[in-house]
Amino acid sequence: MRRYVFGHPIETEAVLEKPPVTTDVMTELQVGASEEFPLTFSMEMDEDDIVYGLGENVRGINKRGWLYTSHNSDDPNHDEGKHSLYASHNFLLISGKKHLGLFFDTPGEVLFDVGYQHYNQLVISLPEGDVEVYTMEADSDLEVIRQFRHLIGKSYRAPKWAFGYGQCRWSYMTSDEVREVVQTHRKMGIPLDMLYLDIDYLDAYKDFTTNPKTFGDFDALVSDMQKEHIHLVPIIDAGVKMEDGYDFYEEGKRKGYFCKDENGEDFVVGVWPGDCCLPDMLNDEARAWFGDGYKFLLDKGIDGFWNDMNEPALFYSRKHLAEVFEQVGSFAEGNLDIQRFFEFKDMMTQISNNEEDYKSFYHNYKGQKIRHDKVHNLYGYYMTRSASEAFARLVPNREVLMFSRSSYIGMHRYAGIWQGDNKSWWSHLLMNLKMMPSLNMCGFLYTGADLGGFGDQTTEDLMIRWLSLGIFTPLMRNHSAMGTRMQEVYRFDAVEKMKGIIQLRYRLIPYLYQAYEKAINEDTMMFYPLGMVYPTDAIARRVEDQLLVGDDVMIAPIYEQNAVGRVVYLPEEMTLLRFRGAELVEQTPLPAGHHYVEMPLGDVCMFLRDGHQLQLARIVDSVADLDWDNLTFV
Ligand code: NOJ
Repeated sequence: MRRYVFGHPIETEAVLEKPPVTTDVMTELQVGASEEFPLTFSMEMDEDDIVYGLGENVRGINKRGWLYTSHNSDDPNHDEGKHSLYASHNFLLISGKKHLGLFFDTPGEVLFDVGYQHYNQLVISLPEGDVEVYTMEADSDLEVIRQFRHLIGKSYRAPKWAFGYGQCRWSYMTSDEVREVVQTHRKMGIPLDMLYLDIDYLDAYKDFTTNPKTFGDFDALVSDMQKEHIHLVPIIDAGVKMEDGYDFYEEGKRKGYFCKDENGEDFVVGVWPGDCCLPDMLNDEARAWFGDGYKFLLDKGIDGFWNDMNEPALFYSRKHLAEVFEQVGSFAEGNLDIQRFFEFKDMMTQISNNEEDYKSFYHNYKGQKIRHDKVHNLYGYYMTRSASEAFARLVPNREVLMFSRSSYIGMHRYAGIWQGDNKSWWSHLLMNLKMMPSLNMCGFLYTGADLGGFGDQTTEDLMIRWLSLGIFTPLMRNHSAMGTRMQEVYRFDAVEKMKGIIQLRYRLIPYLYQAYEKAINEDTMMFYPLGMVYPTDAIARRVEDQLLVGDDVMIAPIYEQNAVGRVVYLPEEMTLLRFRGAELVEQTPLPAGHHYVEMPLGDVCMFLRDGHQLQLARIVDSVADLDWDNLTFV
């Protein structure tokens, strides 16, 4: 492991125990500069090299052939043309004749050209010349990952119950509606452990409040849910509503805990409640104060949270909006020709998450005034850290579920992440699968995507297939956006099939949790690309739609509508385990090679490695009832 320092990098606290700085000239990468960038790193790749890494991002497990940027962005369009999602995970692993790990630790922007301009060239460019670069080489991919993970510290450990099934919806408008959703699951025998509360439980979208009219019985709701073994998991947003008389806001303002504009005034942005201020999560005192805000809900018995809009997402800034309002009237006059029309349209679409806005406010980070864009990618990390540090202070004996939308490496020690606003698209089911190992290598083990898809209209078959993948991901949550088709599993004709799949999840929890714990304890993965486990198998190295889950089982999900089976590649002899719902109905040993395997809707197929075993629990309605000692072994 080598550590190189270029310029004056801003501390991220991704790495807590740093190895000494290497003063030798860097040999792993060529260091240079270009017209546009003061600092670049490059290397020639072999034709066959695979480039793993970059955590939460679009495209394949092998990142080769595209351009990625580290820029945490609130963008619900996760299409192939994008270059970043909500997180910056600047770790790459070049796997070929050599196994080389690279970590670029900087909170600012980084561009990764992974064979995009020239297929055999890897070029990393930094708009500023400040970065710490860690390089690590080993005999195998997994050994590189182990070294990297050791460097960044142990991953967050979620409570066991957080491996249960969770139901969410942006638009559960009242506590009665919440109760009904839970009751329906219980009545129909569909296992459930978590009911997530989206912004609708809040009073006027103010953090650390509950709506007195629609959630007036919040305390009773929490305790009634506890009796049912249901954990209520409320959302917390980064922006704090500006409102006189709202204590939390007033305290933050009085103490100077919000991000400031260039004149030292609180910088005003828009999120759900309208005008908001952004807590300066990077300031130690402000961070502790924001964390203390969670006490309001912890005191009510809450033991799980999800942190949202923490890129931070800006619907607008007051400053920019004022400029827009000044100009907008002029477009009403005269002809909107091609140029004027697009000027007008761009002015509107650029109101949100505007790059100029990110350059218009400041943090007080480690005693220094720092412009936001220089530390942009840390905001979600430090928000989530504020919560986690508060839990350790306030409820040291409580296991708390915590995951965030935005992240940076380092945050993996404090929480998990979910994969943001995907859509009810088959391609996003596949993206969910592909993102799992990429996230795992960067330390994010407790993760999953919105099952069924968040935006757009789901279909029954997509829901079934996505659940069939989701039963393996630590975070197993069905979530959808306001205005989309309702997608609680009991809304569908095929509810019995879906119920069976969720029951199977509960049967698998002991296996999954031990794989998860092992990944934490041994700095390894829970989801492995086949190439990492069968590195000498040229076919396995190129498979992107199958993964090993833990050390014993391979999965090969269906991700195409109307497919009734698929070709599966077995790198070695394996036993096909076919579950129909929760019941194991077939065990067929299959030789290594390609096989067409029928997978009708409702069947979940797994492939058990030769000489390995899978433990299964009995079906239960919640993790609290799970019998961890009496397991059946296959
Ligand atoms: C954006 C989040 O990504 C989504 O999950 C949530 O439902 C909405 N914000 C509303 O809170």
